[in-house]
Amino acid sequence: MDSKKGSKAPGSPDVEYFFNSAPPLKGRVQTSQKLKEFVEKIVRSSESGRPIRVVCVTSGGTTVPLEQRCVRYIDNFSSGYRGATSTEYSCFFYKNGCVSIIFSNFRGSCQPYCRYLPHDSFLELFDIAEDSTIKVCESHDTVVKRSIKDYRKAVEEGLLLKIPFTTIFEYLQILQMVATSMNCLKSLGMFYLAAAVSDFYVPWENMVEHKIQSTEGPLDMRLTQVPKMLSVLRKDWAPSAFCISFKLETDPDILLQKADMAMQKYSMHIVVANELANYKKEVTVVTSRGKTKVCSHGKDHDLEAELVDLLVDRHFEHIKKCGSEANGAL
Ligand code: PMT
Repeated sequence: MDSKKGSKAPGSPDVEYFFNSAPPLKGRVQTSQKLKEFVEKIVRSSESGRPIRVVCVTSGGTTVPLEQRCVRYIDNFSSGYRGATSTEYSCFFYKNGCVSIIFSNFRGSCQPYCRYLPHDSFLELFDIAEDSTIKVCESHDTVVKRSIKDYRKAVEEGLLLKIPFTTIFEYLQILQMVATSMNCLKSLGMFYLAAAVSDFYVPWENMVEHKIQSTEGPLDMRLTQVPKMLSVLRKDWAPSAFCISFKLETDPDILLQKADMAMQKYSMHIVVANELANYKKEVTVVTSRGKTKVCSHGKDHDLEAELVDLLVDRHFEHIKKCGSEANGAL
């Protein structure tokens, strides 16, 4: 296997090594073109009126393949609910179409405007009418129509661009592309990094090509640390953007301390801390000014509504603070 230029010893959590040794992103040219057109359209609309904010929402888990012709992989916990729900509320809270969302999500994870639809099977949505045509069941009619209408509106008005990923290699290459494309928007850009990103991986050049054989006995495998890209995002890819990362822990005793650490170490503007046991019911928004709890008030209430509302306010403050720079951006 070719060892590509710029390689460092596997085991070193190095950004350059990660990108140089990753398999090339399939459809890179098309994705790059789509991103370019999406951002250019936003810049044009902003020039003729109110500036449009752009939020990159990452959502779902990433996989780490164990074989190049992948049969087995390690993945991270995440249904994509947080990212999908937050995308819908963002469109709502920024109001009047003054936000566009780049939704980068794990293939097959929750999608915006689909959360009221049945999870188990789309077949539950439909009935066969007497004339053999297919129609939506009456019980789902209103919700399906609303979902289709909201989704189509978001896409047709250029408010939503979806870019899917599966592996950690795809995720980080896409994040880099999105971030560098959004750099021209300066403080009008926001990153909402809710994806559960793999912390350990097998570098492509160390990976076996074919399916690992169970007849060879127990599997002994060394995983390399995935470099944290948060500092690179802040320093190099989109330095003026407003950055929100998430911190998930299972041990409540270390959660807030880890969130504080992440904020300082990676220069995040906000870290949203959540605990696996109750992540749908409660999160803590950690900023340099203090900590704010955001809770769900029952089964039919998404905490994302208040969370996004709060973050939109903070984004406006950030834009105001960077005032002249943002105006100069567009
Ligand atoms: O999708 P749901 O089922 O609704 O669940 C939502 C969630 C619990 C997954 C979400 O709220 C959440 O907490 N997401 C982040 C989980 C996580 O991976 O935390 P972490 O501590 O491993 O990473 C912290 C941050 O570093 C993340 O914002 C991630 O984007 C970033 N990261 C992580 C690893 C890595 N190698 N590079 C990174 O940049």
